[in-house]
Amino acid sequence: MERELWDAPTAIPPDALLTRIGVDSHHHSNREAREEEFARRGLDAFRDVASVSPESPITVLDFGCGSGRILRWWAHERPADTIVGCDIHEASIDWMRTKYPERVRLFVNSEVPPLPEEDDTFNVIYCGSVFSHLTDWAAWLLELLRVLKPGGTLVASIHGRGFWQLGVAGSRGVPWDDDGTGIIVERAGESFHTSWGPAVYVSEWWLRRHWGAAMNIIEFHSTGFGLPDDRERGQGWVVGRKRPGVLPSPETIAAASDDPRELPAALRALDLAYDEIALVHIPEVRRLWHAVQESSKVWEDLAAAREELEAVRASTGDRWSDAVTNVVRRIRKRRAS
Ligand SMILES: C[S@@+](CC[C@H](N)C(=O)[O-])C[C@H]1O[C@@H](n2cnc3c(N)ncnc32)[C@H](O)[C@@H]1O
Repeated sequence: MERELWDAPTAIPPDALLTRIGVDSHHHSNREAREEEFARRGLDAFRDVASVSPESPITVLDFGCGSGRILRWWAHERPADTIVGCDIHEASIDWMRTKYPERVRLFVNSEVPPLPEEDDTFNVIYCGSVFSHLTDWAAWLLELLRVLKPGGTLVASIHGRGFWQLGVAGSRGVPWDDDGTGIIVERAGESFHTSWGPAVYVSEWWLRRHWGAAMNIIEFHSTGFGLPDDRERGQGWVVGRKRPGVLPSPETIAAASDDPRELPAALRALDLAYDEIALVHIPEVRRLWHAVQESSKVWEDLAAAREELEAVRASTGDRWSDAVTNVVRRIRKRRAS
């Protein structure tokens, strides 16, 4: 492993804290691989965030810092900055407090706004993999803008087309649809304490309409957050700037805009939610779904066997009965298993 990955002064968290942010034994089988993932992803994400705020010293907030995957790099690379991190997960913050120098201020925030911070405090706020899980996005976006200085920068990663395939609908073959997506929530209601929480997917036009109603959008990337070697996959990210003046209300920015894609996208989100409820929560539907999957595999086998038979007939003229018997036997065996 590159030396630079280990240069950050703070240790890597225990597995329980890694698992809850997606660095788990399923994707990274041994501890060394998990440590490398935590270090590498954090450094690459830090570089993306820091690239849009090169000036220092500044006051920066890592909102939803988890166990410090990105924050550890900020603490190491930009020691002149005033650095603050917060998360709703007490165990993560408790662990970080034992590892970080006192100049890094860490606190547990509540699940709903407000944050215990003054208006216009931070030059930069960043949120890595937080809005991709936040269903209460409007209230939190406005709260972060409240504590951001006018002209300050907000950087947030989001789930879009690069994460769709991993979700409930994407993994069962529903294609990503830019125009047909506004905001789609999967796994609604899941807890951050026992899972990765809900998954929230947004499209560019929707984000520009809704987030853009509260701040100036400076950059939008549909994929590639923290992935300098492959900008075509992974999370998207948005960079915004706080406007001077009074902020709108959460209701205003959440309400449907006059974009003609709003209504069809909202209806599609509803349909997908119905499908998800049925597929995830009703065992009979889940069984039926698997049966359909199975039978389409059988169907493919039959089609392949038919092609084989045609080829045998074409090549052996009248003497093809043995070959036919073999293929039929194979299909019977396959169907019985
Ligand atoms: C996928 S993890 C990402 C953690 C960290 N940003 C990173 O990149 O490693 C999402 C984090 O958001 C936190 N979170 C969820 N809702 C939050 C909220 N309302 N306020 C602060 N943090 C929240 C979760 O507890 C979790 O630690």
